[in-house]
Amino acid sequence: MAKRFHLGWFTNFTADEWNTPFANGGSPWDGKFYVEIAQALERACFDYLMFEDKLSVSEAYGGTTEVYLKHALGMVPKHDPAPLAAVIGAATSHLGIVATMSTMAYPPFLLARLCSTIDHIAGGRFGWNIVTSAENAAAQNFGMDKLPPRELRYEMAHEYMDLVYRLFDSWEPDAVVMDRETGTYADFTKVHPVNFEGKYFKSRGPLNTVRSPQGRPTLVQAGGSPKGRDFAAKHADSIIALNSSLEEMKAFRDDVRARAEGHGRNPDDIKVLFLVAPVLGATEQDARDKHARMRSGSQFIEYSLALMSAITDIDFSKYELDKPLPERLVTNGEQGSLDAFQQWGSGKTLRELVQNSSGAIASIELIGTPDRVADKMGDAMATVGGDGFLITTPTQAISRRVINEVTEGLVPALQRRGLVRTEYTHKTLRENLRAF
Ligand SMILES: Cc1cc2nc3c(=O)[nH]c(=O)nc-3n(C[C@H](O)[C@H](O)[C@H](O)COP(=O)(O)O)c2cc1C
Repeated sequence: MAKRFHLGWFTNFTADEWNTPFANGGSPWDGKFYVEIAQALERACFDYLMFEDKLSVSEAYGGTTEVYLKHALGMVPKHDPAPLAAVIGAATSHLGIVATMSTMAYPPFLLARLCSTIDHIAGGRFGWNIVTSAENAAAQNFGMDKLPPRELRYEMAHEYMDLVYRLFDSWEPDAVVMDRETGTYADFTKVHPVNFEGKYFKSRGPLNTVRSPQGRPTLVQAGGSPKGRDFAAKHADSIIALNSSLEEMKAFRDDVRARAEGHGRNPDDIKVLFLVAPVLGATEQDARDKHARMRSGSQFIEYSLALMSAITDIDFSKYELDKPLPERLVTNGEQGSLDAFQQWGSGKTLRELVQNSSGAIASIELIGTPDRVADKMGDAMATVGGDGFLITTPTQAISRRVINEVTEGLVPALQRRGLVRTEYTHKTLRENLRAF
């Protein structure tokens, strides 16, 4: 019997597909479109729907906001995923919902309170994707001159986590007694101040919210650098990763699992989900044609480069498309994603990096019929060892059609092979992640 793996969906609260032949989107701002998507993913027994987030309107590509705003390139407009997670939580029963929130932006008390509130609304199915932010423009929106260096961001984030754990634990599990006889709602001896004084953060506590069903939200993280991996291995229930080959995927997973053991954790409590963007067709040729159409448009090249610029603060508009990159690029932003993209040493031109490779958004290429792609996913997991995939589209934008192809085509093919769940067996997101 094959070892089962987990499925997440990666998207953001953006304009969705609005100008492709089979898309009717563009204004999902009341959240209802994403509720429908969540319900479809729940029918397919996904572990979670994850909303990526950023906190600025980028000018990284060409020194202007034009490309981002004109094409609504997945970076802007971008609405806040936290209230959306609450709306989705109230409209679903099993699916996990993960929202991204930055340790740079939220005071720890506010974040802990928000997570606790949403976890209640979602019945223990809320997850927090912990990010430290990676763009100067985002830092400037919060009063800083520029982004602190990566090492410092992680140092601050570790302290941040110490504090939010204490806030989450400031209510003992049985603090709410609701005893009519004595007229007692909460037993005050079971709600404790935290009096935290760190190098960067200070908070009195206790939290003023009732302890949430999961106690603390399910923690998701995507650290790529050594410090980032260490952070993820220490804190995350699920790590989301972007690598550029099966070998790298395996090495990454082995590394974070070893680091987790070093932190005294059971590595099986961490599920590493690899980002992929399947392109599905009724026949192999159909899928290949679709893939070729997606990649050949001039908009796709601009999109990919503008996205890479936004997450690295490197202006890709200044490099020649038909030459290899002149040097291995480094960033104070998302170095892991940049490395997966630039494939330094491969000799590929910039155009080829965008067009011919799995490129910016996929760990392995998945093109074909649902059955063929399901086989490939099963084979990949057999090589890597686990733990699943985080599915997205080549532009991250979604339509009902794209979701349908996965939930009604690919997932049933995976289920027929015994590779993914056919029903939820637990109540909370963390329990479902740990079920196998
Ligand atoms: C699949 C995936 C999703 C990510 N989502 C976000 C996000 O929503 N917001 C954000 O600011 N960074 C996001 N990141 C960036 C990571 O938080 C992290 O900064 C990046 O992987 C680089 O790792 P490092 O910080 O250890 O260098 C994401 C990265 C990956 C691979």
